[in-house]
Amino acid sequence: MTRLDLLVCAISDAASGIRLYELVDPVGGSLPEFTAGAHIDVEIPGGFLRQYSLCSDPRDRSRYRIAVLREAGGGGGSVALHDKVKVGDRLAVSPPRNNFPIAMGADRHLLLAGGIGVTPMMAMIEQFRHEGANFQLHYCTRSPERTAFRERLADLGSRIFYHHDQGDPRQGLDIAGLLVEHRPGTHLYYCGPAPFMAAVKSAAAHWPVESVHFEYFVPPVNGKSAQSAADRGFRIRLVQRRLELAVPPDKSIVDVLRVAGIEIETSCEIGTCGTCKTRYLAGTPKHNDYVLTARDQQEWVMVCCARAESDVLVLDI
Ligand code: FES
Repeated sequence: MTRLDLLVCAISDAASGIRLYELVDPVGGSLPEFTAGAHIDVEIPGGFLRQYSLCSDPRDRSRYRIAVLREAGGGGGSVALHDKVKVGDRLAVSPPRNNFPIAMGADRHLLLAGGIGVTPMMAMIEQFRHEGANFQLHYCTRSPERTAFRERLADLGSRIFYHHDQGDPRQGLDIAGLLVEHRPGTHLYYCGPAPFMAAVKSAAAHWPVESVHFEYFVPPVNGKSAQSAADRGFRIRLVQRRLELAVPPDKSIVDVLRVAGIEIETSCEIGTCGTCKTRYLAGTPKHNDYVLTARDQQEWVMVCCARAESDVLVLDI
């Protein structure tokens, strides 16, 4: 698994509970390029592996910037990063990967950010500015104190709208009202916590699917689960290896591949990061991820969480 060994060269407060980390090559080299919307996996002391969107300008190869919200009630990764990582430390990170790319050439880009979900949009905004693209950001947070990047966004003028709900979504942005009409040529991008994602998804249900782009940090509340009591086993056929393996109801495809000595790179293993994307050639997958678009689903599966409707799923492995 390829990892970059990066130096933490600066840490600053971006808002209440949010820290900005700057990562550079220890000997000053250029970092692998990335496109707006990309994220990196970060290995955090304590054995955590977390995905963070790059919020820096994609044209700047001298550093990566990530902004991290300290979530005391989360899984522990962000707390460990806040509490244990200091300037001068090294962090192992993956090369950038993009599951949330900009629709190049669209007439208009409408960005909806919920809290820390603004991070991938910071890189998008840099690119839109550079290209002179038509965009608008609606940035939803609890309060000004919890709103990161206010200085960086200060000159957006009429292209940014802040919505502070003080913890009550009814006081915040009228998402359904904003999205009631789809103007041809407009592309929608959204990212934020689970209730925000659910609200935008519902409000944009009538938009053309190819004009709607999103990135989940965590699976939605009441989302799909990779394994359920109703799941049955199936078989995977690996065409490159001329091998067929059984996937029992209580094991994932990745589990079965590992036991067979076949390593597939994974990161989140919950269907949100896109690392384990694998081509399938026949069979009917049951997609349980939050990354693939309807078009992607005709060609790809996320093998950390996909199941199969058919008896056999043929994988290009
Ligand atoms: Fe993240 Fe499969 S490992 S989607």
